[in-house]
This record gives sequence, C-alpha cells and structure tokens, in this order.
Amino acid sequence: MTQKILVLSGDGIGKEIVAEALKVIEVLSSDFGLAVDLEYAEIGGAAYDVAGHPYPEATQKKAATADAILLGAVGGYEYEALPRELRPERGLLAIRADLDLFSNLRPAILNETLAGASSLRAEVVAGLDIMIVRELTGGIYFGQPRAIETNEKGERFAYNTMIYKESEIERIAHSAFKIAMQRDKRLCSVDKANVLEVSELWREVVIRVGADYPDVELTHMYVDNAAMQLVKAPKQFDVMVTGNLFGDILSDAAAMLTGSIGMLPSASLNAKGLGMYEPIHGSAPDIAGQNVANPLATIMSVSMMLRYSLDHVALADKIDRAVEKVLAQGYRTADIFEAGMKQVGTAEMGDAVVAALKA
Ligand code: IPM
Ligand code: MG
Repeated sequence: MTQKILVLSGDGIGKEIVAEALKVIEVLSSDFGLAVDLEYAEIGGAAYDVAGHPYPEATQKKAATADAILLGAVGGYEYEALPRELRPERGLLAIRADLDLFSNLRPAILNETLAGASSLRAEVVAGLDIMIVRELTGGIYFGQPRAIETNEKGERFAYNTMIYKESEIERIAHSAFKIAMQRDKRLCSVDKANVLEVSELWREVVIRVGADYPDVELTHMYVDNAAMQLVKAPKQFDVMVTGNLFGDILSDAAAMLTGSIGMLPSASLNAKGLGMYEPIHGSAPDIAGQNVANPLATIMSVSMMLRYSLDHVALADKIDRAVEKVLAQGYRTADIFEAGMKQVGTAEMGDAVVAALKA
C-alpha cells in the first residue's frame, strides 16, 4: 500500500533541511522498497505569501488525507509585523490543533561521537537518552481568554490562560506511561504544583492514570528544579511528561545537551496514530539560504515518521544507523563542529547520509 506523506517545508532553513530529508526518502524509495507518494503544500510565512493565511484551506485539505506529515520550520523577520493571527507560528499551532496532535515526543539522545560538542562535560551527558513527552494542543498556548487590552487609565495589559481539562491530562499521561513501559519504566511528571492550580490538577490526574501502570516508577518535579536537574544531572531522566509551555522550554534545554538544537527530531501524534514530524529547532532566518543549517534533526524526523506512523521500523533503524555512521566518519555541520572534524554544509551532510544508506 502506498502511503501519502505531506511535505510542508515552511520558512527560513525549513526548505533546505527538508530538501535533505527528501533525498533520504528518495533513496529509501528507490533502493529499499519504501512506497510513498509525496504531496506538497505551504505553511507559515510561505503560505501567507501565496494564500494570505499561515494555514490555508488547501493545506488543511491535504493534511486531512495524509498518512504522515513532514514539516521544516516556520517564521521569519518579514512576518513579525503581521497581526498575530496571521503570523507563521499561528499556522503551526493551527495544524497541531486541527489534527489534534496532542502528544509531542522529543527524544534527546546523545550520539556518542558528539559528547564533546555538548556544552556540558562529556561524562555528564555520555549515554544520555531522554524522551520528553510534551502536551501540544492545550495549556497556555491555546487557553482562552487571551488578549492585549487597554484599561480605563489608558495603560495596556495582557493576559493568557493556562488551562487543562482532566481528559487532556489523562490522554497525554497515557501516552507517556506507554512510552515509559517500552523504555526504562521511569516517568517524571513536571509541573509547578506549588504555585499553579492547573499543575495541582495535572499532578492529581497523572497519579491517577499511573495506577494503570504499576510497573512504571512515577516521580514529580517542579519545572524550575527540572530545568536545573537537566543541566546538572540529565542522565537521571528516562521519560519526562509535561504541559505545552514547560515542554517547549525544557526540550530546548535538553536539545543542547545533545550538542546542538540541530540534532533533535520530534513526532506529534494524535489518537489515531497520524503524525507530524519536525525538527524542534526553528526557521533560523539568520542562517537561511547559506547551506549551513544542520539537516540531521529533520532526517531523524523522517526516521521517527517511519517508526511511529508508517510502520517501517527497519527503515527507521537504517536511517538512525546512517546518521551515526556519518557522525563517526567525522562529518559536522557548523553547529556541531569540533577541531579535527570535517565541516560540511547542509547539502553535503544530506549527501553523506544518503551515501551511508547506500553503502
Ligand atoms: C517548537 C517551537 C514552536 C512552539 C513555535 C515555533 C511556535 O518553539 O515547536 O518548540 O513554541 O511550539
Ligand atoms: Mg520550541
């Protein structure tokens, strides 16, 4: 059966890194029996440019029938002055909400050869393998009401709402416990229950769901402490589960432990197993078009796609091994470069992965 992948390159470095991921998909199709149809659509600023909206109807229609979605990144300086609802980031939030992609998996795995590229000492990060499970369609990102307003004294004020329903906490907790069951069976739920009511409910519901998973050791940590522990002793973590905002922040921190934010892929899944796959880094407009961005997070996002949505675990393993191999061969983009290694550009890194796949 031919599966349909919708490709949304987006903005900035999105186009360049997705181009490298497509090289990988091509070689899997030509040499290793992957049967996929690729469709293309716009999202973010690129969609605003052609359709006046960051998540236009044409893209929604294609997304609705895809088996999986590959996304680059959204955002750019030229869109910053647009009304908030037309900005590229809103397109990303809209597709996550539209497809109900509530379960966001962000694996922070340190490739051995990159221990020296981490900002932490090699022994602190060697062997690091954390899965951050971020709730992606609720919390303060989507809570209503939200606005910037002006009071009667003429002073502006702004507010957002952090809100979670029990059902939303339950389903993300189930996702996280199930993942923990396939790993080291340790789950740390991150909240701010010493201050926030929403975290109090979060903790209560996670504990309740935990009763279904007696084999998983459940712990709780306040988000400030979790941020500190991530840079102090990150290997204490197996799976972390947290809300949308905390997950956004902690996953960037976890990414740096692995050497570079250019190394972290992600999967965003809904209850039916449909997934959108994207690197966790942004569109990096400052380096766009220069052939310097690291395409590995996007290439590893393809691996996650094969694993979680398309049921091609062997091909996913193949990509992961090819990435390990090019790193072992010394290929480095600028973000992970160390003395003695071979510095390459975006396209050359993609080519190296393709060569490793074919070897
Ligand atoms: C991420 C990004 C997005 C987010 C932005 C681009 C809206 O930072 O995927 O982590 O905050 O979710
Ligand atoms: Mg982020």
